[in-house]
Amino acid sequence: MKLASKVAIVTGAASGIGAAIAERFRSEGAMVVSADLEAIPGPEIHKMDVSVEEGWVSLILEVLGRHGRVDILVNAAGISLNEDTVEACTPETLARTFAVNLDGMFLGCKHVIAPMRRQGNGSIINIGSILGRVADGASAAYTASKGGVGMLTKSTALHLARTALGVRCNQVSPTYTLTPMMERWLAELPAGNRRALETAHPLGRLGRPQEIAAAALFLASDESQAITGADFLVDGGYTAQ
Ligand SMILES: NC(=O)c1ccc[n+]([C@@H]2O[C@H](COP(=O)([O-])OP(=O)(O)OC[C@H]3O[C@@H](n4cnc5c(N)ncnc54)[C@H](O)[C@@H]3O)[C@@H](O)[C@H]2O)c1
Repeated sequence: MKLASKVAIVTGAASGIGAAIAERFRSEGAMVVSADLEAIPGPEIHKMDVSVEEGWVSLILEVLGRHGRVDILVNAAGISLNEDTVEACTPETLARTFAVNLDGMFLGCKHVIAPMRRQGNGSIINIGSILGRVADGASAAYTASKGGVGMLTKSTALHLARTALGVRCNQVSPTYTLTPMMERWLAELPAGNRRALETAHPLGRLGRPQEIAAAALFLASDESQAITGADFLVDGGYTAQ
């Protein structure tokens, strides 16, 4: 029970990586509040759009009112829209991608800091991507948003180290991971491209949501108390090449 008595908020928890993290955290003893655009059945659900600041204010108030504390925030909500080469991407696609992937994360970090500082401990985990490290020509807005996530994580970590000792901010950067978002994208690829993508990874396969959850668990737990500003790649060796 690595997260016994801890209270966690996980965004994007209705699907994929966020859902796997919420499930793993619950199995490790945490009280998990799932925040998502989609309403999902179950306990402790908060329906919200992470890009709207008022939603964050009411989420944090609700969690503090009900549980008295918030120990962990995982910012996993994210989108990857079609027609995303730099030429094809419309201003609307660019704005929405940034609003969810970057503004939403920024707002989450901003609003969770005050209660974590009062407690004297806390762990913020941002879900980035290998595409914050290496680019993909087919994903201009997405790649740019994930590049921003990397620097937001570091800036937040440094601010916390100076002003809120005990509160940490780190990032997990997955490779192509078999979630609904990824399955939709794979379904559009020409036959054979999936295998090529798998073999582009030194470990010869794509990621699994449970593997991202395992990395998030480590960063959420007290075992990682010396770690802040880190980017934990879970990429099967993809970016080592
Ligand atoms: N799957 C991959 O290959 C992969 C790789 C690297 C990084 N990531 C990142 O992991 C995170 C999760 O991706 P996933 O593959 O699990 O996707 P997914 O589509 O399976 O799940 C994303 C969840 O986010 C929610 N969401 C979307 N917009 C939202 C908003 N505005 N407010 C609240 N919730 C919102 C969706 O409803 C959904 O439940 C994303 O940040 C994504 O960029 C995924």
